[in-house]
Amino acid sequence: MTLLPQTRAIVTGAGRKDGIGWAVAQLFIQNGAQVILLDLDQDSVHREAIEIGALAGIGCDVSDQAAVRDAVDEAEALLGGLDCVVNSAGIVNAARLHQITDTDWHRMIDVNLGGTFNLLQAAIPALTKGINASFVAISSMAAMRGGGLLGSSHYAASKAGILGLVKGAARELGPAKIRVNALAPGIVDTSMTRGKFGPDWEKMLLDQIPLGRFASPEDIAKACLFLASDLSCYMTGVTLDVNGGYFLH
Ligand SMILES: NC(=O)c1ccc[n+]([C@@H]2O[C@H](COP(=O)([O-])OP(=O)(O)OC[C@H]3O[C@@H](n4cnc5c(N)ncnc54)[C@H](O)[C@@H]3O)[C@@H](O)[C@H]2O)c1
Repeated sequence: MTLLPQTRAIVTGAGRKDGIGWAVAQLFIQNGAQVILLDLDQDSVHREAIEIGALAGIGCDVSDQAAVRDAVDEAEALLGGLDCVVNSAGIVNAARLHQITDTDWHRMIDVNLGGTFNLLQAAIPALTKGINASFVAISSMAAMRGGGLLGSSHYAASKAGILGLVKGAARELGPAKIRVNALAPGIVDTSMTRGKFGPDWEKMLLDQIPLGRFASPEDIAKACLFLASDLSCYMTGVTLDVNGGYFLH
């Protein structure tokens, strides 16, 4: 059984083979979806689109509202409609409060929170006509615990902002039959985290995770598939923790 038959989807942050967006796109395609990849890195997004069997890859900076509108319009035209958007594009930074420059702050907010807003706003007209329309935002456990690992307070703020945006959008877009949900991953083994902790810190972290390992990108993709599919048809405005039990609240 495939869970996304006839689903037309955009997945952002999907230009890196070991990233969460890439794993989401791959699992969606395996489940019958037609997928367009979006990423800042134009060359790799084209390459990965071919490799993964996506319909196309589009280069786009999610913090650029006009570029996002153009990209969503292009994707909708190629797909013949739009039923699902997953925004996985994001950046992280571990700078302490006193080190965060004005530029750092605005880039973090513009990409992580602004990017989610831009995608959501641009996709509303198409999603309104979609089938089981769903928007999935990738937040982070950092939103709840205030960062403290590889992401600092501005990262935590950008990811916490996503949770508020998702709840407001779920409330507003429910009548249009568009579901809006968030995933809050714990530590995921991608280029964002790999080799960044060092052996002692890594052991300490693993000791605190009840399931005893970091997530794979596929673990997050499976939760995303759930939120995108009909299995979660009565869920909107939720934040799904996918952290192996590391942060329980
Ligand atoms: N890896 C983790 O432990 C972890 C944990 C919690 C949340 N997350 C979140 O999951 C998402 C994916 O993270 P990942 O681990 O796959 O990271 P990654 O760095 O492997 O992938 C991020 C992707 O986003 C793209 N990107 C960055 N800025 C962009 C922009 N302005 N416009 C378009 N694309 C852009 C990058 O090119 C890259 O392909 C991010 O939002 C991240 O904050 C990751």
